[in-house]
Amino acid sequence: MAIKIKHLFEQHGAIADIVYPTGDLQSYQGLIILNMFAAQKRVGIFDHFSLIKKLDFTLVKWVYLVSDTKLHLAEFTDISLLRRYQGYPGFFKSLDREYENTKCRLISLGNQMSANEIADITLNEILTPDQPSEVIYSDHKRHVMELVPSQLITTGLEESHIKLTREAVVLVLGGAQGITSELMIHFAKDYPCTYILVGRSSDPRKATPDNTDQMQTKDEIRNYLVKQGAFKKPAEIEQETARIYKNNQIMRTITLMEANGSTVVYKSLDLCDEARLRSFMDDIYDIYGRLDGVVHGAGLLEDKLFHSKTSESFGRVFDTKVTPLRVLAEQLRPETQFVILFSSIASVYGNRGQTDYAAANSVLDKYAWALNKRINGKVISINWGPWKGAGMVSPTLEKEYERRGIALIPLQDGREIFLNELKYGKESQVLIMAGNNW
Ligand SMILES: NC(=O)c1ccc[n+]([C@@H]2O[C@H](COP(=O)([O-])OP(=O)(O)OC[C@H]3O[C@@H](n4cnc5c(N)ncnc54)[C@H](OP(=O)(O)O)[C@@H]3O)[C@@H](O)[C@H]2O)c1
Repeated sequence: MAIKIKHLFEQHGAIADIVYPTGDLQSYQGLIILNMFAAQKRVGIFDHFSLIKKLDFTLVKWVYLVSDTKLHLAEFTDISLLRRYQGYPGFFKSLDREYENTKCRLISLGNQMSANEIADITLNEILTPDQPSEVIYSDHKRHVMELVPSQLITTGLEESHIKLTREAVVLVLGGAQGITSELMIHFAKDYPCTYILVGRSSDPRKATPDNTDQMQTKDEIRNYLVKQGAFKKPAEIEQETARIYKNNQIMRTITLMEANGSTVVYKSLDLCDEARLRSFMDDIYDIYGRLDGVVHGAGLLEDKLFHSKTSESFGRVFDTKVTPLRVLAEQLRPETQFVILFSSIASVYGNRGQTDYAAANSVLDKYAWALNKRINGKVISINWGPWKGAGMVSPTLEKEYERRGIALIPLQDGREIFLNELKYGKESQVLIMAGNNW
């Protein structure tokens, strides 16, 4: 395939080389990455991250990735094959936003095609670049993704798709803090049952009570610590402030959910630790004999433009979402009623500084479509726009969104929207945002 593309480009006057990941890419003006399912050497997004890092973006005019993953996973039987989804759409869309003078594009093949056809398509796409960062060739036609407005029907004869008795068990990754906790506190009012919340922070119920327990804002905690004087360095004060803030958020979530009649189990676990997560999933099935629903809201932001992003940071952001997703997909039993994946608008449109985060969310989006065939209940990837009042949007980021004219989802509205989506939503993927600017 690479040779066919090379020859075709040479026929059109280009100087084309076949390069390997270890090669020097500094002098090239374009890069085509072939990500073919049948390739003998398995190469994933971390390799491509390092490869693209080698480019000189003052020179390079385009970077294209050609992938036939979609074609091969259309009728998959082995669930672990879904690991081939690497999140290229979000990654390329974000790269494209960061480099104004470089077209970063993804060509996704959904049909069996000859090497000649693929070479022709690649050349054609590069010569006549279109606006969307992702194009799909399926049924021998060219497709682009489009958002379709869709009203959720929540009244009339429509019944909630969710039936949870008091004995039901719901697993919520990242569920003790941020927007996920706010949404689950609201959800649990309608569905009191057992909720298992997972995060890395330690269990606040095991901590010794102290004066900071009731403090709900970072300012209050920070001021208290400064007055106490036990921590001297600003970095130490910030770290301790964050720890106490998290501790109190988790305690608040547990207390509010229990007050509404639910049983809450909190598990301190790093979701990037695949082996421990696997055995934890086994434990859940052993102890309860069931798992009725899952909400995956764990996530991490380490925003930085691509040129200053390290592979370690890229890996942390990516794995926080993708490792637990893969484990869930491989261990959940078909009778699960719902699997809700908290994705982001960043995977749909891309976002500057978020190549890692957008890539991870793209994997969530793809899994949702594929898992719907596996799980009897519903699987939805929700591409949330940014929220106001809770969660990972820092005051600095909030100001930046304001500057860009991007509206934030108010907590009160978001709670209802989430509950309705869970009860009545039928799509595999929905984008929910405030306003229509991104
Ligand atoms: N907030 C928004 O505006 C927004 C917009 C779009 C999408 N989303 C998505 O919605 C979800 C929730 O966002 P949020 O704003 O509520 O985030 P958040 O406040 O930062 O909460 C993230 C949660 O994930 C947990 N977590 C992170 N890394 C983990 C790890 N390695 N192992 C276990 N738990 C881990 C955290 O717990 P510990 O710190 O205790 O580990 C925390 O509970 C995320 O997936 C995010 O991508 C949010």
